[in-house]
Amino acid sequence: MKRISILGSTGSIGRSTLSVIERFPDKFRVVALAAGNNIDLLEKQVRAFKPQLVATAAEDAAKALSLRLGADAPDIIPGVRGMAAVAAADGAEVTVSAIVGTAGLVPTMAAIRAGKTIALANKEVLVTAGELVISECRARGVQLLPVDSEHSAIFQCLLAGMNRDIKRLVLTASGGPFRSASRNELNAVTVAQALKHPNWNMGRKITIDSATLMNKGLEVIEAHWLFGLPPEKIGVLVHPQSIVHSMVEYCDGAVVAQLGMPDMRGPIAYALSYPERLDGVSPALDLARVGTLTFEEPDYDRFPCPAYAFDALKAGGSMPAVLSAANETAVSHFLAERIAFRDIARVIRGVMDAHATRPVASIEDALEADRWAREEAENIITSGRAGT
Ligand SMILES: NC(=O)c1ccc[n+]([C@@H]2O[C@H](COP(=O)([O-])OP(=O)(O)OC[C@H]3O[C@@H](n4cnc5c(N)ncnc54)[C@H](OP(=O)(O)O)[C@@H]3O)[C@@H](O)[C@H]2O)c1
Repeated sequence: MKRISILGSTGSIGRSTLSVIERFPDKFRVVALAAGNNIDLLEKQVRAFKPQLVATAAEDAAKALSLRLGADAPDIIPGVRGMAAVAAADGAEVTVSAIVGTAGLVPTMAAIRAGKTIALANKEVLVTAGELVISECRARGVQLLPVDSEHSAIFQCLLAGMNRDIKRLVLTASGGPFRSASRNELNAVTVAQALKHPNWNMGRKITIDSATLMNKGLEVIEAHWLFGLPPEKIGVLVHPQSIVHSMVEYCDGAVVAQLGMPDMRGPIAYALSYPERLDGVSPALDLARVGTLTFEEPDYDRFPCPAYAFDALKAGGSMPAVLSAANETAVSHFLAERIAFRDIARVIRGVMDAHATRPVASIEDALEADRWAREEAENIITSGRAGT
């Protein structure tokens, strides 16, 4: 019986994680849950999974949840202190890191410092503070298991060979809903259109990141830290069917790929049960029915965000944190219909161009770069410098 803590239990990854746990009650038990402010869902989750500890982002949400649960209420702690407590909950062996954005960084570090195995969905954690996170994991002997489907795929493909024989990693990208759109069409994209991902059902921020292809850029940085490879050895290939989740090319010309239906329960279950595999966790892949798998080069002229991520990775230091925070700010403005779709990339480029890269020696340095980038992005947006 593995005991699990979940950061971000009310989100898309959090809900899928609970559905895996629910299906295998003899294998997993939930000990702690943390969410933002969706207490309607959190209340249901607490009643169903009976964790000993719960956290909410805000104090009033914690009070309201406690009132609703009455005598059934577990310990409920609000804010950053609550997130850290859930991350490091007594008895938990695995902490699922599935809060969206930089808000997940401090709790994930708390889980690492408490020696928990990390099932990492939150890619922004590694983009913002990859070097610190990886060195903390090494120092504490903590295992970081990828939940992102591409990184889970690569993790599995790496079992087929030795690290010194890797020629390159190839991250596949669906291309998002605007893969074939012209520049003019991209100018007119609405929020509703951008939120309609062709293959995956995910949270709002990652769905927009998939439409701009920034998701792939963030994943390149995530892969760099997870697998210890330089940017030249990480490639991106557009694969609209999302069946090949990623691949590893070895020095002898062999390419090892991992395939499956696009369903996050697969990589989540693999991270929870590793090295074991759970029976029938995601729908079987029927390749004859899928019929055709196609691949094409990404077009960085129409979708420049992944190229910016490569630039940030090469610049190092605070630049990836700046890229991620500028993106988070721009995406939230796009979702609020204050900027256009193509302005997201312009804001990110503007913030990166205004940034003088600094070393990141501590979490505080990473958070300071993040804070600076959000402020700069707000300035660019409010001054109208984002628009064409
Ligand atoms: N969805 C996917 O298929 C997928 C795939 C690969 C990787 N990922 C990564 O996994 C992470 C989560 O993605 P998602 O799609 O699950 O996002 P989501 O559906 O938007 O869920 C985000 C979760 O984070 C919580 N949250 C937000 N701000 C918070 C804060 N300040 N403090 C505490 N909790 C906070 C939300 O709580 P409330 O809703 O209660 O406010 C929710 O539980 C992202 O980093 C994403 O890139 C997702």
